[in-house]
Amino acid sequence: MRIVLVGPPGAGKGTQAVRLAEKLAIPHISTGDLFRANISQQTELGKLAKSYMDAGNLVPDEVTIAMAKDRMEQPDAEGGFLLDGFPRNVSQAEALDELLVTEGIKVDAVLDLEVPEEEVVKRIAGRRLCRNEPSHVFHVTYSPPKKEGVCDICGGELYQRDDDSEETVRKRLEVYHTQTEPIIDYYKTQGLVVTISSLGPVDEITQRALEALKREKAEQ
Ligand code: AP5
Repeated sequence: MRIVLVGPPGAGKGTQAVRLAEKLAIPHISTGDLFRANISQQTELGKLAKSYMDAGNLVPDEVTIAMAKDRMEQPDAEGGFLLDGFPRNVSQAEALDELLVTEGIKVDAVLDLEVPEEEVVKRIAGRRLCRNEPSHVFHVTYSPPKKEGVCDICGGELYQRDDDSEETVRKRLEVYHTQTEPIIDYYKTQGLVVTISSLGPVDEITQRALEALKREKAEQ
């Protein structure tokens, strides 16, 4: 299956993507994670992306589409993938469609995670990430690590993302409403959108998502 995950910052896209990708046996492709890997490796792409990310803006389409295309063309993505954070505007959605059409394939479903804005702010303020790869995600209240500042899974140091400050989160939400939300209508015209609530225990949301994707597949 080729799935696009959509939702505001802090909706739980990364949290759910890891679980869904495992259950569906497809790779999880996160453009945010790819940019952060470039930043930690201090590549030219990382330097460029950081200036946009720290301001809460989208990284320019040209570099983002090229990076996503390169990742989707890796052998492990041949049978399907779960896109998290891409596409993020209508131009990127059109570019993705064009790319898939040339290979005779298409997006099978767009999973839209709904969560109220006040919950987003709480989730992002408390988020902590592991510095090691893959970067495990914690929350100081909702899923705290056993030992403060230390990853339960690999013992790595936990940190707070530079773009998780209150001011940048407000900007990221504005960008989501103006630039990313229109892709939901874009995909609705193709009959691909399934919307679920992203409130409640993480495992319940995964179950909700799997059932919604199964229904969507059965209806096609
Ligand atoms: P990206 O990394 O994609 O960030 P985002 O979309 O803003 O989403 P987040 O990672 O903040 O949140 P999430 O929905 O994954 O939530 P999470 O699961 O971590 O993008 C960052 C930047 O990169 C962009 O601003 C842009 O600059 C650039 N970029 C990326 N892609 C781009 C593109 N295509 N084009 C241009 N630029 C691009 O959960 C959040 C917290 O909540 C965690 O602490 C978690 O533990 C907790 N949590 C999760 N689920 C629950 C639950 N059910 N109950 C309680 N807590 C929960």
